[in-house]
This record gives sequence, structure tokens and C-alpha cells, in this order.
Amino acid sequence: MSVRATVLCENAVYGNIGAIAEHGWSVWLETPRGEFLFDTGQGKGLLNNAGFFQKDLTAAKGVLISHHHSDHTGGLLDAMKAIRGGLSGSGVPIHAHPDLFKDSFRTDKDKPRRHIGVPHTRSVLEAAGADFRLETGWREVEEGIFMTGEVPRKSSYEIGDQNLKHYGEAEELVVDPIRDDQTVIIDTEEGLFVVLGCSHAGVINILTYITEKTGKSRFHTVMGGTHLGPVEEDQISKSIAALHEFDIGRIGVSHCTGQKVAARMAAEFGERFFFCSVGSKVEV
Ligand SMILES: [Fe+2]
Ligand SMILES: [Fe+2]
Repeated sequence: MSVRATVLCENAVYGNIGAIAEHGWSVWLETPRGEFLFDTGQGKGLLNNAGFFQKDLTAAKGVLISHHHSDHTGGLLDAMKAIRGGLSGSGVPIHAHPDLFKDSFRTDKDKPRRHIGVPHTRSVLEAAGADFRLETGWREVEEGIFMTGEVPRKSSYEIGDQNLKHYGEAEELVVDPIRDDQTVIIDTEEGLFVVLGCSHAGVINILTYITEKTGKSRFHTVMGGTHLGPVEEDQISKSIAALHEFDIGRIGVSHCTGQKVAARMAAEFGERFFFCSVGSKVEV
């Protein structure tokens, strides 16, 4: 299957005068099985950038959501309004995890605590046409297009971001394991095409699980957020070292990878690396 992926929302924009950047992530996926919106950014740039890159959101067969954080889900309401125009009243399938509407927070030291869950209620989104398909496990959205669902956390060093919290059983704020974090995979003749959300499950856990589920180990492209920016050095260096063990043709990190780690990976992966920002396009 062929794929054309265009980054609609990301933390940086270069050259594309008229497009805008935001701390967020959204990718438009064009495949022979249909067009899909993967994540929606914060909601600041989605419609502007879709128009700028001439991507017709009304053509979307559905929306795939990586996890509940607002920098991936804030554009859902705008997306619903835009897509529904093309579906004449029928629901827009939203493929996500049952934790989509949970409350969670960022608790950086010396900064006020911030809510980072979906900024709109489920009922508002449903009234705008959202048809939520919430599942925890691996799923095939269309033939050859998959979402991982929950990813088993097996590596010892992928500890994750300790500043992301949710309410634990005793109603106190504890570190959020972000069980809902998931990744999109498109099976192409040239290898697996992988679009990460934020990789809260750990990029090594994710790629390991994808190989386990598909039986395939050739990755044509791995692009998206790795969340290696806000974690400890031990996780950063061990994850980068472990990435070398995978057969990856092109690796384009961005968003929560942070510029420092992205620059480090650019040096490590040389020609195989690309900075993945607003307007980046990858075709297979
Ligand atoms: Fe996130
Ligand atoms: Fe994010």
C-alpha cells in the first residue's frame, strides 16, 4: 500500500509562510484505503494548516487519536465541524482508547498545575458528529492500517515523564502511566510506516510490540514524538542506543522529542534522520 503523510501540526514551521506552529501534533494520512487524520493538535493551527497544505478534511474516513493529552486532542471539535461537512450528517468515527476523557495534569516544579486532558466534553463532541470507537487493544482500522492500543511496558529504562499526573485510586495525584498512548502503523510493500503520537509507552516498547504483533521487523519510516525531551539521561541514551538495533529506513522525530535530543539523533542517524515539522511530507 502507498502512503503520503503530511504533518499539519507541530512545534515548528520553516519556510511555509502562512502555516503556523504550536506545541502539538497532527498528521494527515493519505492511503488507498482512505484518508485519515491522526491527532488534531491543540486546535490553533489545524484548520489553517489543512487549508494551507490543501488537505480536504471533509475527505477524512475517520480520526485516529494517539492519547488524551490536549496538544493532540484540542483540535477535535474543529475537526468534527470540518469533516462532518463532507459526511452529510453521519457520525465521524473517532478511534481512541477508553481513557480519552480522563482528567490529567502537568505538574512542573514552580509552575501552576495545568489540566492537559481533552478540552471539550464528550457530549459537545458527539453533538458535533463524533462517533467514538473506544477500545484498549490492537485494532485494524482498515485493511493494513493498525493502531497499537495499549503497549506492554517491558523495557527497564523507559520510565517516562514524572511530571504528568492523574488521580490514583485514593484520589491523590500520582504519576500517569498514560496507558492510552498508541501508535499508527501502515503496512507497505517497502516496510512498516509508523507514526508515533508522543511515545509515552516508550519508543522501544512500541517498536518491539509492533514487530511482535505484525511479525515484521523492517520499518520504512518512524516519525513523530518520542517524549525523550522531558525524561532522564539514562532513558535518553539507552533508547537511542536501542533504536540502532532496529531496521529503520527513515527516522523523523519531533514534538516532545525536544530540539536538544532531536539534534543528538540527527548526529547519530545521519542521512536516515529528518526533522519532522509542520509541512514535512513523507511518501512511500
Ligand atoms: Fe502527551
Ligand atoms: Fe504531545
